Amino acid sequence: MSTTLTKRTPSTKRSPAAKRSTAKQKTRGKRAAKKPEARSNRNAKSKLYASLVVQLLSLLKGEYDLIANAANFSALLFNSLPNVNWAGFYFLRGDELVLGPFQGNPACVRIPMGQGVCGVAAQQVETIIVPNVHEFPGHIACDVASNSEIVVPLFDGEQLLGVLDLDSPLIGRFDDQDAEGLNELVTVFVGHEEGLIHDND
Ligand code: SME
Repeated sequence: MSTTLTKRTPSTKRSPAAKRSTAKQKTRGKRAAKKPEARSNRNAKSKLYASLVVQLLSLLKGEYDLIANAANFSALLFNSLPNVNWAGFYFLRGDELVLGPFQGNPACVRIPMGQGVCGVAAQQVETIIVPNVHEFPGHIACDVASNSEIVVPLFDGEQLLGVLDLDSPLIGRFDDQDAEGLNELVTVFVGHEEGLIHDND
């Protein structure tokens, strides 16, 4: 299994597979040639997430209905992030996760804690990046098009509220920058819902 776990504060920890691929690039002498492109991709992604924070704040402004805001948040992600075929929420209800607002194909409604990528992320209270879902034991396949996935837990203080889940048809679509950007977005989202972020902030 090649999976990256990220504690609540996203780390820059990389999966063994990612490390292996960097090592290969080094030995082939291609690393220097790819550097400027990689840097520009990082800059573009960081700008995209900064812009998504602004757009999310604007969508949330003056509205505190959790379902309405989660629906708009998932639509924002689905329509703004490239190569994403599913984006949405599972909320904690008792001891299982229950499907919330999302964009994409219809999905499984209930996920027990500890099962699938969502259930593991919720149980371990960690962001999980799965470069290849077919290598993740117990992955729950909702859309056959999905090949990689990222799941970010949502917290109110120490209390788990649920998870944000994104799928992609591309292998290795999500990286540490996505983990960081999505964690920032869910912090804005939960902060707004809890009244921690005010419209005039
Ligand atoms: N793949 C997830 C299930 C949810 S769908 O991707 C929308 C999982 O393994 O938990």
